[in-house]
Amino acid sequence: MTVPLIDPFQRAINYLRVSVTDRCDFRCVYCMSENMTFLPKKELLTLEELDRMCSTFVGLGVEKLRITGGEPLVRRGIMAFFNSMTRHLDSGALKELTLTTNGSQLERFADDLYAAGVRRVNISLDTLDEKKFADITRWGRLPQVLRGIDAAQKARMRVKLNAVALKGFNEDELFSITDWCASRDIDLTWIEVMPMGDIGNEDRLDQYWPLKDLRARLRDRFTVTELSERTGGPARYVRLEETGQKIGFITPLTHNFCESCNRVRLTCTGELYMCLGQEDMADLRPAMRNNPQNDAPLISAIREAISRKPKGHDFDYSRQTVDGRVTRHMSHTGG
Ligand code: GTP
Ligand code: 5AD
Ligand code: SF4
Repeated sequence: MTVPLIDPFQRAINYLRVSVTDRCDFRCVYCMSENMTFLPKKELLTLEELDRMCSTFVGLGVEKLRITGGEPLVRRGIMAFFNSMTRHLDSGALKELTLTTNGSQLERFADDLYAAGVRRVNISLDTLDEKKFADITRWGRLPQVLRGIDAAQKARMRVKLNAVALKGFNEDELFSITDWCASRDIDLTWIEVMPMGDIGNEDRLDQYWPLKDLRARLRDRFTVTELSERTGGPARYVRLEETGQKIGFITPLTHNFCESCNRVRLTCTGELYMCLGQEDMADLRPAMRNNPQNDAPLISAIREAISRKPKGHDFDYSRQTVDGRVTRHMSHTGG
């Protein structure tokens, strides 16, 4: 039997997030600057190398694989990669294969994703107003994303919206987004904005809408019941009794959840980040490429990396300054 991956704080690591590209067809203002320099394509792991990396992690006890980016569905040939992961679902080693996407390409890919075994998809959407959507994503168009959501639901995938809570931007849409999700049977999770990457002139403190304020506002209109259930992610959930719907909150700033962290992140070049909020990483590429026939060095490199997993992030806005920021963009590690 292989020994599972356990970090220095006795947390079992059974969840791998894989960013398959750093590119995106949107330029969300809190995520990227308008002029991003992306990696040369030759730096990317090939789809075969991604398969080898992921399969090695699955062999080490990873049960949940989330494909991210950038925008994962803009990576050329990505469906071949999803299809190759299906075998780990079939064998029972992998419990869930899923993705986080901006939804722009879902109309094209929803049926294929379902066929590959994807049953749930998280879609990033911060506003239902067409003009505001165009403003915040700079390059995105809302109707295209709405068609993607329709396609995902039609393909029988469960849809969850991830909305970043942004002061002065989507505050006024709290109830309209909630109602829209209820009417469509879509789950909804709110996320506090994290200080990741240089985003030009936008100021994080100006953007920050703490979720404790958002929750209080929900209580003005709904009876809110705290739930103890977890999906294996950082979100905490409540139920709105009037609609029966479940709302998630991801609160890196107001309530730290690192003690139950179960995840690490692989970038599209083969770097393993042990924490979203820290700079330390391990480059797994040499161990893999220098040993084409032998996985043992890659396995050792993974174990060594997990032995360095930090306790948590240091994001902090409480002193009215942005502390603990990391220099890389969210698109580098995939959120
Ligand atoms: P579920 O399986 O639906 O629970 O997914 P998830 O919440 O783990 O994944 P998702 O991609 O929907 O995550 C949404 C966002 O939550 C990410 O883009 C990040 O912004 C944030 N997030 C997820 N995992 C972590 C984490 O480990 N640490 C921190 N600080 N934020 C995280
Ligand atoms: N803080 C919080 N969430 C962010 N995302 C991107 N940048 C940030 C940030 N700085 C979100 C996206 C998407 C997910 C991948 O990460 O909106 O939902
Ligand atoms: Fe895990 Fe780091 Fe996220 Fe905390 S911030 S939950 S330790 S990845």
